[in-house]
Amino acid sequence: MSGLDKPIPMSSKRVTNLRGQAKVPGDKSISHRSLILGALSVGQTKIHGLLEGQDVIDTAKAMSSFGALVEKHENGYWTVDGFGVGGFAEPEKVIDCGNSGTGVRLIMGAMSTTNITATFTGDASLNRRPMARITEPLNLFGAKTYGRRHGKLPITVVGAASAVPITYQTPVASAQIKSSILFAGLNTAGETIVIEKEKTRDHTERMLQGFGAEVETETTSTGHMVRIKGYPELLPQEIKVPRDPSSAAFPVCAALITEGSDVLVPNIGLNPTRSGLFETLREMNANITFENESFQGGEPVADIRAKFSPNMIGIDVPPERAASMIDEYPILSVVASFAKGKTLMREVNELRVKESDRIDAMAKGLRSNGLSIEEGEDWWSVEGREIDGVKGGGLCETFLDHRIAMSFLILGMASKSSVKIDDSSPITTSFPIFESLMAELGANFQKSEL
Ligand code: S3P
Repeated sequence: MSGLDKPIPMSSKRVTNLRGQAKVPGDKSISHRSLILGALSVGQTKIHGLLEGQDVIDTAKAMSSFGALVEKHENGYWTVDGFGVGGFAEPEKVIDCGNSGTGVRLIMGAMSTTNITATFTGDASLNRRPMARITEPLNLFGAKTYGRRHGKLPITVVGAASAVPITYQTPVASAQIKSSILFAGLNTAGETIVIEKEKTRDHTERMLQGFGAEVETETTSTGHMVRIKGYPELLPQEIKVPRDPSSAAFPVCAALITEGSDVLVPNIGLNPTRSGLFETLREMNANITFENESFQGGEPVADIRAKFSPNMIGIDVPPERAASMIDEYPILSVVASFAKGKTLMREVNELRVKESDRIDAMAKGLRSNGLSIEEGEDWWSVEGREIDGVKGGGLCETFLDHRIAMSFLILGMASKSSVKIDDSSPITTSFPIFESLMAELGANFQKSEL
């Protein structure tokens, strides 16, 4: 989504009896990392189940601009012929990462310790997001970064000619900061160390190990520590990307709030650093079960069955769980609207700097549908109206944010009057088949006028 495309307003009407299997696309986090690590290996990496959302396509294009050969093959798999650690070619054009914070932050890290210059930009949403959290540690490696005021994109990175390793405590719980530093540490002599207070998603650590890097992790009283040794020779891999738990959240939550529903969402990555939403929903009395639990490419996976759950209750979501469900608060607030009592979400200031200010976006949209929201800088709460009590009828602004758009369409599926969003086009960034997949289950979404 460039932000220049024409908005596509959409409405969602109340439905019942969602049925069937929801085969959601590949994990976004793992897809980005597969392409980047494929480029950082010498030889051919094969990727099955890559998410073909715009965010990941933009990362694929970026890797081509830096000299990798990235190709999609007829039966759906992708290959990356990599240039190896430190093998980045200087791109001829500006790298446009579109809507993707993960893409731009991980790629800036990976190239920042190679002696080339690259300029990065994104859409209106990405160019508003904080980047100093990335450029600060990259400068410590010896890179030079020149951006707009307050460290915003567009940013030019002049990679360090001979990078020095760093030990860095992340100021906020962010897998993007951690991963950016670990990727920078690859082309740096010696040992780079990242310490985080709360453990964030660990796909980078797992995948780096899979590609042959020396990565050690340790949890101590000061936090979670990751060490990486510089100059590894990364070996190309064959990767099966599990389906995305953050996308699975939408059909799962839709089934919980629509009468008579029983939906199976197969083969979902359930890495404990990502599965906080499902734990939270179970504590709210949601009828969710895991079936066929197994392992795929170093990640735990399972089929998730979700059934209509008319007796959910509001809870105080444990703040230490925030990192493991950070992308899921918008859809959780929708489920909370149909529960009995208040759901309180604390220590979630990071929500204010995602693709949109997600507390503000959800609070505005939920209020326009008759809900009561309270909010502070780093917390918010939703007063549940129980299963049949949400009025709906609102028009919700989506602020170029895919998860806000999908959340309000799910809200409409169980509200008394239909819910409208001003723009469904950002959904393609992470879940390009959302509309058709939800329609197959029984959703009634219609393109509409504002
Ligand atoms: C991601 C990390 C999270 C998440 C984003 C994907 C990743 O961001 O919100 O959608 O793939 O590393 P932060 O790590 O900045 O919280």
